[in-house]
Amino acid sequence: MPLQEKMQKVRGWIQSAQRVVALTGAGISAESGVPTFRDAQTGLWARYKPEDLATEAAFRHDPQRVWDWYAWRRELVANVSPNAAHHALAEFGRQHPGRLTLVTQNVDGLHQQAGSEDVLALHGNIRQDRWLRPCPRERFSERDCEPATATEGRPPKCDVCGNQLRPAVVWFGEALPEISLFRADEAAGNCDLMLVIGTSGLVYPAAGLADVARRAGARVVIINTGPTELDDLADCGIRCKAAECLPELLLGETRMGVTAEEGV
Ligand code: APR
Repeated sequence: MPLQEKMQKVRGWIQSAQRVVALTGAGISAESGVPTFRDAQTGLWARYKPEDLATEAAFRHDPQRVWDWYAWRRELVANVSPNAAHHALAEFGRQHPGRLTLVTQNVDGLHQQAGSEDVLALHGNIRQDRWLRPCPRERFSERDCEPATATEGRPPKCDVCGNQLRPAVVWFGEALPEISLFRADEAAGNCDLMLVIGTSGLVYPAAGLADVARRAGARVVIINTGPTELDDLADCGIRCKAAECLPELLLGETRMGVTAEEGV
């Protein structure tokens, strides 16, 4: 089926759905210049696999290295802005209060920056810190750290108990924030339509939300530039860049010219 026909079909599904869940991954931020999680690491970090740095064990083993890696990633994120895909989801949420639940695996904070409210950020937020362990002096449990503060102590420590600050993200092997996951699961189990946008579908439990929706009778649409682990679940797959197709799908903004699938 040609891309434009798929777009029209999915646009109709979105317009008729009462409850929509959008599950996003790194691909939705690709057009903002944020490398997807599995992009090859560059420069100093080329020799490390993210999976070997994004763990509590790695942090305890070499706090400075892990802190510096996040300082580098924070710099990347500090200089990027939401793209048309983030803005389209935020606008849809504004136009249809209560109809959209936005669940993201991204830690870049771009959905929030675009104005989406009540974002269920399953993997945390790279712009915030939290204590490595409960600190007897909860002077601050989370703070928006600027990249500049990342150089003050690597990592910063509590001057009373020596506790270390760590990025407020979910590391491999750690539990996801319970309330966010519960709400995401509940929304997936009660929606009419799930849009799975820019995720490889490799990491659970987030990727499992598509199956929850499917089993509850929802339609599942996958929006991605390539194949994903969830393709077999999809009622429709749209191969396009999220920033190019979401404004049209969600808001009816025809901005897509002829695309590769149609032999541009
Ligand atoms: N538009 C749509 N999809 C895109 C775009 C784009 N412009 N660019 C890339 N993609 C797709 C890729 O084809 C890929 O399927 O985005 C997906 C990115 O996949 P990953 O890099 O695996 O990122 P993600 O799925 O978000 O990873 C999930 O895994 O490692 C953990 O915590 C990490 O949150 C991350 C989670």
